[in-house]
Amino acid sequence: MTEQPSHEGLFISFEGIDGSGKSTQVTRLAEYLRRSGREVVVTREPGGSDGAEEIRALVLQGDPDRWSAETEILLFTAARRDHLERLIRPALAAGKIVICDRFADSTRMYQGLSRGDLRGTVDKLHDLMIGVEPDLTILIDMDPIEGLKRAKGRNGTEERFEDFGADLQSAMRAGFIELSKEYSERFRVIDGGQEIDAVAADIQAAVEQAFSTRQ
Ligand code: ADP
Ligand code: TYD
Repeated sequence: MTEQPSHEGLFISFEGIDGSGKSTQVTRLAEYLRRSGREVVVTREPGGSDGAEEIRALVLQGDPDRWSAETEILLFTAARRDHLERLIRPALAAGKIVICDRFADSTRMYQGLSRGDLRGTVDKLHDLMIGVEPDLTILIDMDPIEGLKRAKGRNGTEERFEDFGADLQSAMRAGFIELSKEYSERFRVIDGGQEIDAVAADIQAAVEQAFSTRQ
């Protein structure tokens, strides 16, 4: 059973394929909300707490076949549990807005779909160990080839998933759109192919709408 968090703050997640502009837009949204006087905590997954950042290095660096999908489900969920206990829950309980760059929907997609159908396993472990969904999920939808070009342009060491290539990016894009229909109440789909300012404006409107429906 998925319990919704009882808290004063707002839990917003960003999802989308690699290079879709999530990190850029998380920063923009946090700036916007802080300007309007709100208290904001920006975080990311995998990571967001000391222990989860250590797990991040394990899962994102090294050979693409370093871990099986099943082992990854356990690692990402372990990281998420630590993140939830130490950062997300306390921040929400203090009435803050938490903006998280990726959350459980990424596990549903990357581990649930990329190497066979493991979605049921992801959901079972999520229900057992996490049990929380964001109040609002911003899905930045984006052409997969364009997203991969943008992601590759960044030059980092965290390339395990980017190395799965264009086919995975396309499957993830389609999967995220399906997921947005499954969880239509909390998802808002934003066109990530626009200029940065236009994407930011669409996201601000979606967040303001979420605030107005909560009051
Ligand atoms: P993600 O976090 O989804 O992987 P990033 O925010 O890191 O994506 O963006 C990937 C790259 O694309 C960065 O170099 C960023 O500056 C650039 N970028 C982000 N949004 C846009 C946009 N709307 N148009 C063009 N380039 C963008
Ligand atoms: P991220 O740092 O958000 O990368 P990007 O900015 O390129 O989107 O995430 C790193 C990778 O981790 C990304 O390719 C997706 C993957 N990932 C999973 O496979 N499962 C998960 O549960 C999460 C949170 C991320």
